Amino acid sequence: MEIFSIRDIDIDNKRVFIRCDFNVPKDEFGNISDDRRIRAALPTIRYCLDRDCKIILGSHFGRPKAGEWNEEKDSLKPIAKRLHSLLKMEIKMANDVVSDDTIKTAQNLQEGEILLLENLRYNPGETANDSEFASRLASMADVYINDAFGASHRKHASIFALPEHFKKGEKAAGFLMQKEVNFFDKMIKSPARPFVAVIGGSKVSGKLEAMLNLVDKVDKLVVGGGMAFTFLKALGHEVGNSLVEDDLIEDAKKVMQIAKDKGVKFYLPVDVVVASEFSEDATIKYLPIQEIPQTWMGLDVGPATNRLFRETLNDAQTILWNGPMGVYEMDKFSKGSTMMSHYIAESHATTVVGGGDTADVVQRAGDVDEMTFISTGGGASLELLEGKLLPGVEAVLKSRA
Ligand code: 3PG
Repeated sequence: MEIFSIRDIDIDNKRVFIRCDFNVPKDEFGNISDDRRIRAALPTIRYCLDRDCKIILGSHFGRPKAGEWNEEKDSLKPIAKRLHSLLKMEIKMANDVVSDDTIKTAQNLQEGEILLLENLRYNPGETANDSEFASRLASMADVYINDAFGASHRKHASIFALPEHFKKGEKAAGFLMQKEVNFFDKMIKSPARPFVAVIGGSKVSGKLEAMLNLVDKVDKLVVGGGMAFTFLKALGHEVGNSLVEDDLIEDAKKVMQIAKDKGVKFYLPVDVVVASEFSEDATIKYLPIQEIPQTWMGLDVGPATNRLFRETLNDAQTILWNGPMGVYEMDKFSKGSTMMSHYIAESHATTVVGGGDTADVVQRAGDVDEMTFISTGGGASLELLEGKLLPGVEAVLKSRA
């Protein structure tokens, strides 16, 4: 998948619109609790600063409804503050997205200045992929750069309609976007083998397409988390009150059948941590999957499973991890996920982590620096794993642009 890189085009002294994904988590006091996505955009911003560009940054934040903005919750002002402390320079903050005043400010930027637009979703044209809105954004800049990998699965104006207003040579992907696309592309098309995919999370429904796309590309498929119970039930196990998607049992069987037909090794938990209720205070037991009591539920993988899963990773050359092994947000049920993070971190494989929850587990486990690559995209990385062409990627494809 060949996309135009910011290095391929002439940006010197130009007005450059950079679509970023500054949709970062905040704590209960409104403070940014993880600024990875902001830091990840810095190489592209710095590259533009080094080339004396006039920089316009655009991002969405949250999902504000048109006309119902909550300044405190939805504004990008805290992002401007964080950018200011990271880049150590003034960041001009626009009052809105595409008013005449804001367009004029963008057009009058001086070399090396940065203007951050307000939340793009303040304008309903953004999610509607509206061409008129896109053309007002386009009037601010000479060059369009997409560095918002995390939002590139959205066919929204700043991702899809906007680049259509720029000619070949005036649009490209930023460094983050390129890195994300290249990692996933290479991993899926030509991984060093054995290639092991570890898939978890609560539901099969969210990951089914990705599993169907991956199952004949990997050498081993390891399934944990809540979704494992649908597979276990499909194999005829009694899983008590554990989360099961009955309507997906046939799909679960299909995944396992494909794995069998293609000679892909398929692993499920062999024991679980079961609880009397979905609560941190619940009584728990460690039981083989054959012994889950009817009224109990499995909320984490058990110690024997941890050892088994570790064995599966021993000879791996490439490991993809998407989805926790249990309800990691509750201490009592976090061990399977923490152990998985450690095992992957300790391996000698190329390790790629996708999904917001999985990245959160890795961070809590203290393994961030040990992973080869942690994606900044949740939904976007999942859609890449499903084999889809993301609208944001399509817009800067060499074959299309
Ligand atoms: C994300 O956080 O996954 C991206 O920023 C996309 O946000 P969205 O799901 O609100 O479109």
